[in-house]
Amino acid sequence: MPETITERGSRSGAEAASGPRTDPGAAGPAPPQEAAFEAKIAADERIEPRDWMPDAYRATLVRQIAQHAHSEIIGMQPEANWLTRAPSLRRKAILLAKVQDEAGHGLYLYSAAETLGTGRDELLDKLHAGRQKYSSIFNYPTLTWADVGAIGWLVDGAAIINQVPLCRCSYGPYARAMVRICKEESFHQRQGYELLHTLAHGTPEQHAMAQDAVDRWWWPSLMMFGPPDDESAHSAQSMAWKIKRHSNDELRQRFVDICVPQAEILGLTLPDPDLKWNEERGQHDFGAIDWAEFKEVLRGNGPCNDQRLDRKRRAHEDGAWVREAAAAYAAKRALGAAGPGEAAA
Ligand SMILES: [Fe+2]
Ligand SMILES: [Fe+2]
Repeated sequence: MPETITERGSRSGAEAASGPRTDPGAAGPAPPQEAAFEAKIAADERIEPRDWMPDAYRATLVRQIAQHAHSEIIGMQPEANWLTRAPSLRRKAILLAKVQDEAGHGLYLYSAAETLGTGRDELLDKLHAGRQKYSSIFNYPTLTWADVGAIGWLVDGAAIINQVPLCRCSYGPYARAMVRICKEESFHQRQGYELLHTLAHGTPEQHAMAQDAVDRWWWPSLMMFGPPDDESAHSAQSMAWKIKRHSNDELRQRFVDICVPQAEILGLTLPDPDLKWNEERGQHDFGAIDWAEFKEVLRGNGPCNDQRLDRKRRAHEDGAWVREAAAAYAAKRALGAAGPGEAAA
Protein backbone atom coordinates (compact mmCIF):
# COMPACT_ATOMS: atom_id res chain seq x y z
CA MET A 1 0.00 0.00 0.00
CA PRO A 2 1.43 3.39 -0.90
CA GLU A 3 2.32 5.59 2.01
CA THR A 4 0.23 8.64 2.48
CA ILE A 5 0.71 11.73 4.51
CA THR A 6 -2.28 11.97 6.77
CA GLU A 7 -3.93 15.22 7.71
CA ARG A 8 -2.51 17.44 10.41
CA GLY A 9 1.02 16.49 9.62
CA SER A 10 1.50 13.07 11.13
CA ARG A 11 4.74 11.49 9.99
CA SER A 12 4.89 9.28 6.95
CA GLY A 13 5.25 5.54 7.27
CA ALA A 14 8.79 5.81 5.93
CA GLU A 15 9.87 7.92 8.82
CA ALA A 16 8.04 5.89 11.42
CA ALA A 17 9.81 2.80 10.11
CA SER A 18 13.21 4.43 10.49
CA GLY A 19 12.89 4.33 14.28
CA PRO A 20 13.70 6.92 16.87
CA ARG A 21 16.01 9.67 15.79
CA THR A 22 18.57 11.59 17.74
CA ASP A 23 19.94 15.02 16.99
CA PRO A 24 23.66 15.56 16.67
CA GLY A 25 24.77 16.94 20.00
CA ALA A 26 21.95 15.26 21.90
CA ALA A 27 22.80 13.06 24.86
CA GLY A 28 23.82 9.46 24.15
CA PRO A 29 25.66 7.89 21.25
CA ALA A 30 24.85 9.05 17.72
CA PRO A 31 22.64 6.57 15.88
CA PRO A 32 24.35 4.59 13.11
CA GLN A 33 22.15 6.28 10.52
CA GLU A 34 23.74 9.61 11.34
CA ALA A 35 27.08 8.62 9.84
CA ALA A 36 25.33 7.65 6.59
CA PHE A 37 23.50 10.99 6.58
CA GLU A 38 26.70 12.96 7.15
CA ALA A 39 28.51 10.95 4.47
CA LYS A 40 25.79 11.74 1.93
CA ILE A 41 25.96 15.44 2.74
CA ALA A 42 29.76 15.39 2.44
CA ALA A 43 29.57 13.59 -0.93
CA ASP A 44 27.02 16.14 -2.23
CA GLU A 45 24.40 13.41 -2.58
CA ARG A 46 20.73 14.13 -2.12
CA ILE A 47 18.78 13.28 1.02
CA GLU A 48 15.46 11.72 0.00
CA PRO A 49 12.20 11.48 2.00
CA ARG A 50 12.76 7.85 3.06
CA ASP A 51 16.31 8.50 4.26
CA TRP A 52 17.08 8.96 7.92
CA MET A 53 17.71 12.60 8.81
CA PRO A 54 18.26 14.50 12.06
CA ASP A 55 15.14 16.07 13.58
CA ALA A 56 16.68 19.52 13.36
CA TYR A 57 17.44 19.08 9.63
CA ARG A 58 13.82 18.09 9.02
CA ALA A 59 12.50 20.98 11.13
CA THR A 60 14.76 23.50 9.37
CA LEU A 61 13.57 22.34 5.96
CA VAL A 62 9.91 22.40 6.95
CA ARG A 63 10.28 25.94 8.30
CA GLN A 64 12.14 27.16 5.22
CA ILE A 65 9.94 25.40 2.64
CA ALA A 66 6.76 26.52 4.42
CA GLN A 67 7.93 30.13 4.51
CA HIS A 68 8.84 29.87 0.84
CA ALA A 69 5.45 28.33 -0.09
CA HIS A 70 3.55 30.97 1.88
CA SER A 71 5.56 33.71 0.15
CA GLU A 72 4.58 32.40 -3.28
CA ILE A 73 0.88 32.37 -2.36
CA ILE A 74 0.75 35.69 -0.48
CA GLY A 75 2.96 37.16 -3.22
CA MET A 76 0.09 36.74 -5.69
CA GLN A 77 -1.84 39.53 -3.99
CA PRO A 78 0.15 42.70 -4.73
CA GLU A 79 0.22 42.00 -8.46
CA ALA A 80 -3.25 40.47 -8.73
CA ASN A 81 -4.33 43.92 -7.54
CA TRP A 82 -3.50 45.16 -11.07
CA LEU A 83 -5.01 42.35 -13.14
CA THR A 84 -8.26 44.18 -13.82
CA ARG A 85 -6.43 47.42 -14.61
CA ALA A 86 -3.66 46.18 -16.90
CA PRO A 87 -3.24 48.72 -19.71
CA SER A 88 -3.67 46.23 -22.58
CA LEU A 89 -4.85 42.70 -23.30
CA ARG A 90 -1.23 41.64 -23.89
CA ARG A 91 -0.11 42.98 -20.51
CA LYS A 92 -3.09 41.39 -18.83
CA ALA A 93 -2.40 37.95 -20.33
CA ILE A 94 1.26 38.13 -19.26
CA LEU A 95 0.39 39.21 -15.73
CA LEU A 96 -2.29 36.51 -15.41
CA ALA A 97 0.24 33.86 -16.44
CA LYS A 98 2.75 35.21 -13.96
CA VAL A 99 0.34 35.27 -11.02
CA GLN A 100 -0.79 31.73 -11.88
CA ASP A 101 2.85 30.60 -11.93
CA GLU A 102 3.21 31.86 -8.36
CA ALA A 103 0.23 29.75 -7.29
CA GLY A 104 1.92 26.74 -8.92
CA HIS A 105 5.17 27.48 -7.06
CA GLY A 106 3.28 27.49 -3.79
CA LEU A 107 1.75 24.11 -4.62
CA TYR A 108 5.06 22.44 -5.55
CA LEU A 109 6.52 23.71 -2.31
CA TYR A 110 3.65 22.53 -0.09
CA SER A 111 4.11 19.15 -1.76
CA ALA A 112 7.83 19.24 -0.97
CA ALA A 113 6.98 19.97 2.68
CA GLU A 114 4.55 17.03 2.69
CA THR A 115 7.42 14.68 1.82
CA LEU A 116 8.87 15.66 5.20
CA GLY A 117 5.71 14.52 6.94
CA THR A 118 4.03 17.89 7.45
CA GLY A 119 0.64 18.30 5.83
CA ARG A 120 -0.35 21.51 4.08
CA ASP A 121 -3.37 21.93 6.37
CA GLU A 122 -1.03 22.28 9.30
CA LEU A 123 1.16 24.79 7.44
CA LEU A 124 -1.82 26.84 6.29
CA ASP A 125 -3.27 26.89 9.81
CA LYS A 126 0.04 28.25 11.07
CA LEU A 127 0.16 30.90 8.36
CA HIS A 128 -3.41 31.98 9.04
CA ALA A 129 -2.71 32.15 12.78
CA GLY A 130 0.35 34.33 12.12
CA ARG A 131 2.68 31.63 13.48
CA GLN A 132 4.61 31.13 10.24
CA LYS A 133 6.11 33.88 8.16
CA TYR A 134 6.19 34.81 4.52
CA SER A 135 8.62 37.16 2.81
CA SER A 136 8.11 40.66 4.22
CA ILE A 137 8.48 42.19 0.73
CA PHE A 138 4.82 41.33 0.07
CA ASN A 139 3.67 43.66 2.83
CA TYR A 140 4.39 46.67 0.63
CA PRO A 141 1.60 48.12 -1.54
CA THR A 142 1.47 48.26 -5.35
CA LEU A 143 0.52 51.89 -5.90
CA THR A 144 0.85 52.19 -9.69
CA TRP A 145 1.05 49.98 -12.77
CA ALA A 146 4.83 50.51 -12.80
CA ASP A 147 5.00 48.53 -9.55
CA VAL A 148 4.21 45.40 -11.57
CA GLY A 149 7.40 46.08 -13.54
CA ALA A 150 9.47 46.87 -10.47
CA ILE A 151 8.30 43.69 -8.74
CA GLY A 152 9.20 41.57 -11.76
CA TRP A 153 12.61 43.15 -12.21
CA LEU A 154 13.64 43.50 -8.57
CA VAL A 155 11.56 41.11 -6.46
CA ASP A 156 11.56 38.18 -8.88
CA GLY A 157 15.16 39.10 -9.73
CA ALA A 158 16.16 38.84 -6.07
CA ALA A 159 14.18 35.61 -5.75
CA ILE A 160 16.20 34.08 -8.61
CA ILE A 161 19.51 34.97 -6.96
CA ASN A 162 18.26 33.39 -3.74
CA GLN A 163 16.77 30.33 -5.39
CA VAL A 164 19.23 29.23 -8.07
CA PRO A 165 21.61 27.86 -5.40
CA LEU A 166 18.63 26.01 -3.87
CA CYS A 167 18.54 23.83 -7.00
CA ARG A 168 21.62 22.21 -5.38
CA CYS A 169 20.04 21.99 -1.93
CA SER A 170 20.82 18.71 -0.16
CA TYR A 171 17.13 17.78 0.19
CA GLY A 172 16.04 16.17 -3.09
CA PRO A 173 12.35 17.16 -3.38
CA TYR A 174 13.10 20.82 -2.54
CA ALA A 175 16.01 20.97 -4.98
CA ARG A 176 13.96 19.45 -7.80
CA ALA A 177 11.01 21.80 -7.21
CA MET A 178 13.41 24.72 -7.47
CA VAL A 179 14.59 23.79 -10.98
CA ARG A 180 11.20 24.50 -12.53
CA ILE A 181 10.48 27.42 -10.22
CA CYS A 182 13.72 29.13 -11.24
CA LYS A 183 12.92 28.78 -14.94
CA GLU A 184 9.58 30.46 -14.37
CA GLU A 185 11.09 33.14 -12.13
CA SER A 186 13.42 34.00 -14.96
CA PHE A 187 10.39 34.71 -17.20
CA HIS A 188 8.92 36.85 -14.41
CA GLN A 189 12.08 38.88 -14.11
CA ARG A 190 12.21 39.50 -17.86
CA GLN A 191 8.56 40.52 -18.11
CA GLY A 192 9.12 43.07 -15.33
CA TYR A 193 12.26 44.38 -16.97
CA GLU A 194 10.56 44.71 -20.35
CA LEU A 195 7.56 46.46 -18.80
CA LEU A 196 9.80 48.95 -16.97
CA HIS A 197 11.92 49.48 -20.08
CA THR A 198 8.78 50.38 -22.06
CA LEU A 199 7.63 52.84 -19.40
CA ALA A 200 11.08 54.33 -18.86
CA HIS A 201 11.36 55.03 -22.61
CA GLY A 202 7.81 56.36 -22.88
CA THR A 203 6.42 59.78 -21.98
CA PRO A 204 8.02 61.84 -19.19
CA GLU A 205 5.07 60.87 -16.97
CA GLN A 206 5.62 57.18 -17.66
CA HIS A 207 9.34 57.53 -16.96
CA ALA A 208 8.57 59.27 -13.66
CA MET A 209 6.14 56.50 -12.72
CA ALA A 210 8.81 53.84 -13.43
CA GLN A 211 11.39 55.77 -11.40
CA ASP A 212 9.00 56.17 -8.47
CA ALA A 213 8.30 52.43 -8.42
CA VAL A 214 12.02 51.60 -8.44
CA ASP A 215 12.60 54.15 -5.66
CA ARG A 216 10.05 52.38 -3.49
CA TRP A 217 11.01 48.74 -4.27
CA TRP A 218 14.81 48.93 -4.30
CA TRP A 219 15.50 48.87 -0.55
CA PRO A 220 12.85 46.28 0.36
CA SER A 221 14.35 44.07 -2.40
CA LEU A 222 17.77 44.24 -0.74
CA MET A 223 16.11 43.16 2.52
CA MET A 224 14.83 40.00 0.78
CA PHE A 225 18.26 38.40 1.28
CA GLY A 226 17.68 38.42 5.03
CA PRO A 227 19.61 39.98 7.89
CA PRO A 228 23.38 40.58 7.66
CA ASP A 229 25.48 37.43 8.06
CA ASP A 230 26.56 38.19 11.61
CA GLU A 231 22.90 38.40 12.70
CA SER A 232 21.49 35.53 10.69
CA ALA A 233 20.27 32.95 13.19
CA HIS A 234 20.09 29.86 10.98
CA SER A 235 22.80 30.47 8.38
CA ALA A 236 25.77 28.49 9.70
CA GLN A 237 23.90 25.24 10.32
CA SER A 238 22.03 25.52 7.00
CA MET A 239 25.34 25.99 5.18
CA ALA A 240 26.83 22.96 6.95
CA TRP A 241 23.82 20.87 5.86
CA LYS A 242 24.11 22.28 2.32
CA ILE A 243 20.55 23.55 2.44
CA LYS A 244 22.05 26.96 1.91
CA ARG A 245 25.09 27.45 -0.33
CA HIS A 246 25.91 31.15 -0.01
CA SER A 247 25.58 33.70 2.76
CA ASN A 248 22.91 36.43 2.80
CA ASP A 249 25.46 39.19 2.27
CA GLU A 250 27.16 37.34 -0.57
CA LEU A 251 23.86 36.95 -2.45
CA ARG A 252 22.84 40.55 -1.74
CA GLN A 253 26.14 41.77 -3.21
CA ARG A 254 25.60 39.63 -6.31
CA PHE A 255 22.14 41.15 -6.76
CA VAL A 256 23.44 44.72 -6.50
CA ASP A 257 26.20 44.03 -9.01
CA ILE A 258 23.70 42.58 -11.49
CA CYS A 259 21.15 45.40 -11.08
CA VAL A 260 23.46 48.37 -11.54
CA PRO A 261 24.17 47.88 -15.28
CA GLN A 262 20.55 46.86 -15.88
CA ALA A 263 19.33 50.11 -14.29
CA GLU A 264 21.61 52.01 -16.67
CA ILE A 265 20.04 50.33 -19.69
CA LEU A 266 16.60 51.07 -18.28
CA GLY A 267 17.56 54.73 -17.89
CA LEU A 268 16.51 54.63 -14.24
CA THR A 269 18.42 55.56 -11.09
CA LEU A 270 18.82 53.27 -8.11
CA PRO A 271 17.91 55.35 -5.02
CA ASP A 272 21.22 55.07 -3.20
CA PRO A 273 23.71 57.98 -3.23
CA ASP A 274 26.41 55.69 -1.80
CA LEU A 275 26.19 53.20 -4.65
CA LYS A 276 29.51 53.14 -6.51
CA TRP A 277 31.98 50.76 -8.08
CA ASN A 278 34.80 49.71 -5.79
CA GLU A 279 37.81 49.00 -7.99
CA GLU A 280 39.70 47.22 -5.23
CA ARG A 281 36.89 44.81 -4.33
CA GLY A 282 35.68 44.43 -7.90
CA GLN A 283 32.14 44.96 -6.57
CA HIS A 284 29.78 47.84 -5.87
CA ASP A 285 29.69 49.54 -2.50
CA PHE A 286 26.20 50.43 -1.38
CA GLY A 287 24.50 52.36 1.40
CA ALA A 288 23.28 51.09 4.76
CA ILE A 289 20.03 49.15 4.81
CA ASP A 290 17.36 50.31 7.25
CA TRP A 291 17.13 47.14 9.33
CA ALA A 292 14.78 48.85 11.79
CA GLU A 293 12.21 49.05 8.97
CA PHE A 294 12.81 45.38 8.10
CA LYS A 295 12.20 44.32 11.70
CA GLU A 296 9.04 46.42 11.95
CA VAL A 297 7.58 44.82 8.82
CA LEU A 298 8.62 41.39 10.11
CA ARG A 299 6.86 42.15 13.39
CA GLY A 300 3.64 42.68 11.48
CA ASN A 301 3.74 46.46 11.23
CA GLY A 302 4.37 46.90 7.52
CA PRO A 303 1.93 48.86 5.37
CA CYS A 304 -0.11 45.82 4.24
CA ASN A 305 0.50 42.97 6.75
CA ASP A 306 -3.07 42.89 8.07
CA GLN A 307 -4.63 43.24 4.64
CA ARG A 308 -2.56 40.41 3.14
CA LEU A 309 -3.35 37.96 5.92
CA ASP A 310 -7.04 38.90 6.10
CA ARG A 311 -7.42 38.36 2.38
CA LYS A 312 -5.59 35.03 2.55
CA ARG A 313 -7.82 33.80 5.40
CA ARG A 314 -10.94 34.90 3.55
CA ALA A 315 -9.84 33.16 0.35
CA HIS A 316 -9.21 29.98 2.36
CA GLU A 317 -12.69 30.12 3.91
CA ASP A 318 -14.31 30.88 0.55
CA GLY A 319 -12.54 27.86 -0.93
CA ALA A 320 -13.75 25.42 1.73
CA TRP A 321 -16.47 24.03 -0.55
CA VAL A 322 -13.89 23.25 -3.26
CA ARG A 323 -11.76 21.26 -0.81
CA GLU A 324 -14.81 19.42 0.49
CA ALA A 325 -16.03 18.62 -3.01
CA ALA A 326 -12.55 17.39 -4.06
CA ALA A 327 -12.30 15.18 -0.96
CA ALA A 328 -15.80 13.76 -1.56
CA TYR A 329 -14.92 13.05 -5.20
CA ALA A 330 -11.64 11.34 -4.20
CA ALA A 331 -13.49 9.23 -1.62
CA LYS A 332 -16.07 8.22 -4.22
CA ARG A 333 -13.35 7.24 -6.70
CA ALA A 334 -11.52 5.22 -4.02
CA LEU A 335 -14.76 3.43 -3.21
CA GLY A 336 -15.28 2.64 -6.87
CA ALA A 337 -11.71 1.35 -7.26
CA ALA A 338 -11.86 -0.87 -4.17
CA GLY A 339 -15.35 -2.21 -4.88
CA PRO A 340 -18.21 -1.91 -2.38
CA GLY A 341 -17.36 -5.16 -0.51
CA GLU A 342 -13.76 -4.20 0.26
CA ALA A 343 -14.59 -0.60 1.06
CA ALA A 344 -17.06 -1.73 3.71
CA ALA A 345 -14.48 -3.95 5.40
FE1 LIG B 1 7.49 32.29 -7.59
FE1 LIG C 1 7.92 34.99 -9.56
